[in-house]
Amino acid sequence: MSTSTLPKLTPITQPWIKDITKDLSQPNSWIKQYGSPINLLNLDSFKQNFKRFDQVFNQFGVKSNVFFARKANKFKSLVWAAKEYGFGVDTASLNEIKECVEVGLDPERITVTAAVKNRALLNYVVEHQIPIVLDNLDECDLLNQILEENDKSLKVGFRISGFSHNGEKLYSRFGFDIDQIVAFISENLSDSGKYNRFKYHGLHFHLNGYSTDQRADALSQTIDVADRLKKSGFKSSFIDMGGGILMNYLASSKEWETFHQALKQSIKTENREITFQKDLLGITNVDGTLIGEPKVYPYFNNLYQEKFIGKILESNKGGFTLANHLIDRDIELRLEPGRSLLDQCGITIAKVAFRKKDSQGRLLVGLEMNRTQMFSSSADFLLDPIFLPQNPNEQAPCEVYFVGAYCLEQELLLKRKISLNQHPQVGDLVCFVNTAGYMMHFYESEAHLFDLARNLVVEKNGSWNVTPDEDFEM
Ligand SMILES: Cc1ncc(COP(=O)(O)O)c(C=O)c1O
Repeated sequence: MSTSTLPKLTPITQPWIKDITKDLSQPNSWIKQYGSPINLLNLDSFKQNFKRFDQVFNQFGVKSNVFFARKANKFKSLVWAAKEYGFGVDTASLNEIKECVEVGLDPERITVTAAVKNRALLNYVVEHQIPIVLDNLDECDLLNQILEENDKSLKVGFRISGFSHNGEKLYSRFGFDIDQIVAFISENLSDSGKYNRFKYHGLHFHLNGYSTDQRADALSQTIDVADRLKKSGFKSSFIDMGGGILMNYLASSKEWETFHQALKQSIKTENREITFQKDLLGITNVDGTLIGEPKVYPYFNNLYQEKFIGKILESNKGGFTLANHLIDRDIELRLEPGRSLLDQCGITIAKVAFRKKDSQGRLLVGLEMNRTQMFSSSADFLLDPIFLPQNPNEQAPCEVYFVGAYCLEQELLLKRKISLNQHPQVGDLVCFVNTAGYMMHFYESEAHLFDLARNLVVEKNGSWNVTPDEDFEM
């Protein structure tokens, strides 16, 4: 069968990526100096993404604040950039908080949504007066104890969950139940209450998945909570609607649909595999009947970033848009985008180490990297990589699987079979596009004592230069 029959998934690539990959002399020299793989980050794209959110809020006239969800990427330079460009950072650990303070971010521009807040973390936020978002009763007790020990108070928000959507209560393991939060705050944060050192500031939620309808319902119900709290004397300055804002990775909806069809068709005996050993990426195959959809990120989307936010803000609740409800109440809407603020910000480049056939004849291309250096909770990263041969000649098209350095049979960098326009040679490069959101760092490990990938910030001053993340300052 010809190579052209493998479905393509062409990634959107901004000009800076094309520019860096069109001439290999610089990527070669960076890999020589820093090893393989390297993660490259472009902060201009980060700034552009922030502006898109800022503009949509301005357009609706809604007071807003954007906090970059740092968990999506470990580059510290993103914190420098947040400070420089005037937005905040959402932190998930003590070290993330400390880096914000080291960079000089104003405490009001830091939010703390860490899932586990131990004594060390709470001591630090109390000392630095960094507002936090509380999740449960034990956290409240520990914070209260620390505030009493230090004779201090602290601005707090409360995470809530259990929103009603289409007649059902949305599940979450996080936060206080929406039906109990008004009584809880009114009782405990009053002057005579148990937690009278907490200065109530606002409400927070973060929903799993990517539904704008669910978010509109959750926002509307949170506004109702804010109204009820106001009657008890607690004014909400903000509602934070967390992250989960969609982004779009792919250039063509048609390619996306064709891939799904081809994946499902691939189970037929007469059809060849398009994923390793006909992996269905999370679809269940019960005696030839396919159940469910691939458990992958929706890499193609029409409704993404600022359009996604616009859709929520224009939702009508009780005859008014949610934007109007927020404006009427003078409530600031906060966002904590991770992935969507990192759109087009990063690439990962690795070097070809070997080519070989597996015991069933598949052509495997081993890269000097491991699977955890480009890995997320999605069953596969469904973007075609950019193949960068040292000597382009387009002589020998082939189909390959990219494999990594961990000693596991399942150590595939991509489960998809990829067609290349020429046979790879040792030393050629492969560039994975749009890896800044979660792919680079979220599951990164140091098994086998491999070094972690170097994180390099790219900037163009005539030619492209890189600065190791740890040396970067703004
Ligand atoms: C509380 C909170 N805020 C923000 C985010 C960022 O989500 P995303 O990267 O999908 O925007 C997450 C992700 O898990 C989260 O748990």
